[in-house]
Amino acid sequence: MVRDVEQVLFTQAQLADMTARIGRQISDDYRGKDLLLIGILKGANVFLADLMRQIDIAVELDFMAVSSYGMATESSGVVRILKDLEHSVAGKHILIVEDIVDSGLTLHYLMDNLKSRGALSIASCTLLDKPDRRKVDVNLRYVGSVIPDVFIVGYGIDYAEKYRNLPYVASLKPAVYQK
Ligand code: IMP
Ligand code: MG
Repeated sequence: MVRDVEQVLFTQAQLADMTARIGRQISDDYRGKDLLLIGILKGANVFLADLMRQIDIAVELDFMAVSSYGMATESSGVVRILKDLEHSVAGKHILIVEDIVDSGLTLHYLMDNLKSRGALSIASCTLLDKPDRRKVDVNLRYVGSVIPDVFIVGYGIDYAEKYRNLPYVASLKPAVYQK
C-alpha cells in the first residue's frame, strides 16, 4: 500500500491541526444550539471521528451513505442514497461532514435533499476542497484545506475502496491507475 504512494500532501500532524481548528470554529458557532453532525460514508468516517472529539459542545451523530462514483475517479452526477438517516432532522441544526468536495454534485444533492426535511439550518464541512472541477456552486462553511486537481487517498478516502487506512493524505503513483 505504502509503495503506491507518490507524495504525502498532509501529514498526521497537519490533519490534527485542521481538525482542531475546525472543531473550535464549530463549537463557537453552535454553542447553545442542538447540532446534528451527519457524516457521509464511507469517506468522511476518519475525519469525522477526529473532528467530533475536537468539538466541545453536545452533538448528535448520524450517517448517510451515497454513491456517485462506482469505481471511476470522476463523479457521474447521479447520486443514489445507499443508507439514509436514522432520525428526523426536524428542529435541529445540521452540519454535513464530507471528506472531499470535487464537482460539488454529491453535496449539492445532499443539501437539497436535507433542506426538504425541516431542519432549522443546514451547513457543510469538508476536509478537502478541490474547486478546479466544480460543476455546481456549493456553500462550504468549514474547509480543512483547498487542494489542486489531484486525485488523493488516505485518512478515510479511497481509490477503488483501497487506501482508506493510510493515516495521511497522499497522491498515488500513475502506475496504480493503469493496473
Ligand atoms: P463530487 O460529487 O464530485 O463533489 O465528489 C464528491 C465525492 O467524490 C467525495 O465525497 C469523494 O468520495 C469522491 N472524491 C472526489 N475527489 C476524490 C479524490 O481525489 N480521491 C478520492 N475520492 C474523491
Ligand atoms: Mg465521499
